[in-house]
Amino acid sequence: MNDAHPRSRAFQIFSRLVVFVAVLLIWWGAATTTKQAGMVFADWPLSLGSFNPPGWLDYMVPFLEHSHRLLAKLVGVLVLILFSWAYVRSGKQALEVVLLVLVLVVTLGVFIAAGDERFDAGRKQMFLTVALGLALLPIGWLLWSWKARSWTLVEKLTALALLMVTTQAIFGGLRVTEISDVFAVIHGCFAQAFFCVLILIAMASGGGWENTGFTGSVDRLRLTKIAGTIFTGLIFLQLILGAKMRHFHRSGVPDDDLFRTQGQWIPGFEDPIIAVLFLHKFTAVCVLLFALGIAIRLFTGRKQSDGRDFRLMALIVGLILFQIVLGLSVIGTEKSFWVTNVHVLNGLSILALAFVFAVRAWRGRYVESGLANPSSGVTLKA
Ligand code: HEM
Ligand code: HEM
Repeated sequence: MNDAHPRSRAFQIFSRLVVFVAVLLIWWGAATTTKQAGMVFADWPLSLGSFNPPGWLDYMVPFLEHSHRLLAKLVGVLVLILFSWAYVRSGKQALEVVLLVLVLVVTLGVFIAAGDERFDAGRKQMFLTVALGLALLPIGWLLWSWKARSWTLVEKLTALALLMVTTQAIFGGLRVTEISDVFAVIHGCFAQAFFCVLILIAMASGGGWENTGFTGSVDRLRLTKIAGTIFTGLIFLQLILGAKMRHFHRSGVPDDDLFRTQGQWIPGFEDPIIAVLFLHKFTAVCVLLFALGIAIRLFTGRKQSDGRDFRLMALIVGLILFQIVLGLSVIGTEKSFWVTNVHVLNGLSILALAFVFAVRAWRGRYVESGLANPSSGVTLKA
């Protein structure tokens, strides 16, 4: 992987700004879902055919949905700037950027036309087929460039982020125009994956990227790599379960039993929502035990590293405990607006930190026996 990238402080600050605005956007999306404002406007990309639909500033529900759309447009523009900046700065042809953007705009346009077509199923299908065909162009371009061209990691990731933000807008739009809960779940989960890519861009464009990896013995790094990867996957699974429950059961919580589900430790699986609620609770326990296990293992073997891996995992354990309290409170308060939104946002933080843990493990550096770590003064033994 070619990491060499002409780093600039301004680019790094900008990439962090994009992360910050994306957090706001995800919170806004979560608030839209919690207030059941998702279908307040049945059209897309405009709301009631306007950038400024009547009364959207006067009532909470249209305000949430419309401002979520506006914020999403802002994030789209910010990501486009990020990509163009990374790409053009490294001396590549600006023409290619223009062509890519054109293809993305036309693809979006055909998806919008498919969404607008409500009466003629044949025409809708035709638009969808053309749009999917067009979407293959940028995806193919990215795959080919990723493999065949000597791009830096930041160039690859900003291009990926641009395609992801466009895809996310399409998922959001289809959720509305197709009145689809399935697209709502995909939209909710894809947002979290997109956020991880933004975090990686901010990490890779900073001056500290070279030293971001954990340092430790061979065994320790192997452990952190495997554990970090499985752990990130487990958290993502938990998010999918949460999103499924959230979008397929909108009024209140499916069951008010805090620890058990419908009065049983293992409920019947006939009702899919009850099954998902039980699995979400069960996975929460697995996630907690897994993270605790890693943290204890890293702590007992702390002489084999500089301790940064342990500190990060300890923070994650703390956030998971908080998340479980929030999850119980979501049920206890019958989905209070703030509690539910903080539960979603804290879930995002756990995913992001698990992902950062895995990245730092994969970028880890083996340390020879007896080397002292200058930052902590701890003697490392391989
Ligand atoms: C560009 C980036 C975008 C991001 C990162 C994003 C993120 C999110 C998130 C995290 C949620 C909450 C999902 C949940 O709680 O499970 C959400 C909800 C929603 N988003 Fe977006 N969104 C984006 C763009 C859009 C666009 C362009 C639209 C266009 C209409 C849109 C429409 C919606 C709707 C309708 C909901 C509510 C879904 C429901 O209640 O079922 N989003 N969004
Ligand atoms: C590691 C622990 C946990 C994580 C990472 C987590 C994460 C999440 C996330 C991200 C969502 C929203 C998904 C989305 O729409 O995008 C969610 C929903 C939910 N979670 Fe959790 N959760 C955890 C533990 C718990 C626990 C222990 C409970 C209850 C005992 C719980 C109850 C709920 C409920 C009821 C919802 C649906 C809320 C709604 O319908 O609006 N969660 N969870």
